[in-house]
Amino acid sequence: MAKVRADRITKVFKTLKALDDVSVTIDHGLFFCLLGPSGSGKTTLMRIIAGLETPTRGSVFFDDEDVTELSPSERNIAMVFQFPSIYPSLNIYDNIALAIRREVNSKQEERDRVRWAASLLRIEEHLNKRYHEIDFGILQRVSIAKAIVRKAQVYIFDEPLSNLDTKLRESLRSEFQRIHKEVGGTFIYVTHDQLEAMAIADKIGVLRDGRLYQVGTPDEIYYHPVNKFVAYFIGSPTINFVDTKLKMVENKLYAYVGDSYLQLGEESKRALQSRVDKLENLQLGIRPHDISISTTPVADSIPCYVNYIESLGTSLLVELKSGSAAFKCLCDATINIKEGMQVYAVFDKEHIHIIDPETEEVII
Ligand SMILES: Nc1ncnc2c1ncn2[C@@H]1O[C@H](COP(=O)(O)OP(=O)(O)O)[C@@H](O)[C@H]1O
Ligand SMILES: [Mg+2]
Repeated sequence: MAKVRADRITKVFKTLKALDDVSVTIDHGLFFCLLGPSGSGKTTLMRIIAGLETPTRGSVFFDDEDVTELSPSERNIAMVFQFPSIYPSLNIYDNIALAIRREVNSKQEERDRVRWAASLLRIEEHLNKRYHEIDFGILQRVSIAKAIVRKAQVYIFDEPLSNLDTKLRESLRSEFQRIHKEVGGTFIYVTHDQLEAMAIADKIGVLRDGRLYQVGTPDEIYYHPVNKFVAYFIGSPTINFVDTKLKMVENKLYAYVGDSYLQLGEESKRALQSRVDKLENLQLGIRPHDISISTTPVADSIPCYVNYIESLGTSLLVELKSGSAAFKCLCDATINIKEGMQVYAVFDKEHIHIIDPETEEVII
């Protein structure tokens, strides 16, 4: 397995810049997820790492060897695409065996490795079947088996689950970490689904419009997004943004939310100390998980009213309004509230972000 390094990759298709100066290092054996909306350049970056596409500028390294000019087979990459590809004339066993034709020394080794891959993907019972005898979910398991049966430098999965229905997707998603552990290789997994990335990745890279905004562990990306897009794209339900301005009174920092001022914590004050010149026209970001509702007045809360309630089963997504500010809060379904009621929102200060909407930078 290899460490993969993309160094200042730019890719231009005619006039469209699909990738803009992307640099990333993916360590040996890491499960790396490349996450971004459709059209952000994920497949293009994967094709460049695989050697299926040449970058306009920049280089690709495997373990510090420059592989930019090497073909996919010289790079020894195993890849799974969104649409499974298998030979309909061969049975499943032979389809998987074909992938290691050049790697094995004996029929016994071939059998052992095909069986190992099939058991990892739980498709042993289908090995003698052909294409028309299995469903789409099994078919995608077969394409994953075909990839992981190989001893490749890097395993690339480009949205392998996006054409499966929700149940199949969830079951295969939960198996991916185990598969990664057993295979022990460097995995690069592409998805537009942030829940999928958060659930399976060691590290996530967030791509948008060809630019890599942030690389970090799921926790780093969730708790410390570097800009507004990352904060927005990660997390469900989506983070709230409300217009705010800050003011310093008697050495305490306050943020204006709707009709109230909320005192910010010491850490926020320290982080904002160097920026006291710009206290107006900012935004406050807070996730629905980090707001709680009190039905009676409590210290340091924001009086507001319940605008609407959406039931999510065991929890409620509640939109609260204070003056011109509206924000959503996730709370337990047992809470006794009604639309129109006056309540008090309590923001978890540890998880308040302040954003400069001009640069989209998350200041804290
Ligand atoms: N071969 C190509 N020729 C022209 N434009 C392309 C080509 N491949 C991709 N693009 C464009 O590059 C951008 C990124 O595409 P892609 O890498 O497929 O994004 P993603 O996989 O994130 O959906 C899109 O705007 C797409 O239309
Ligand atoms: Mg794609």
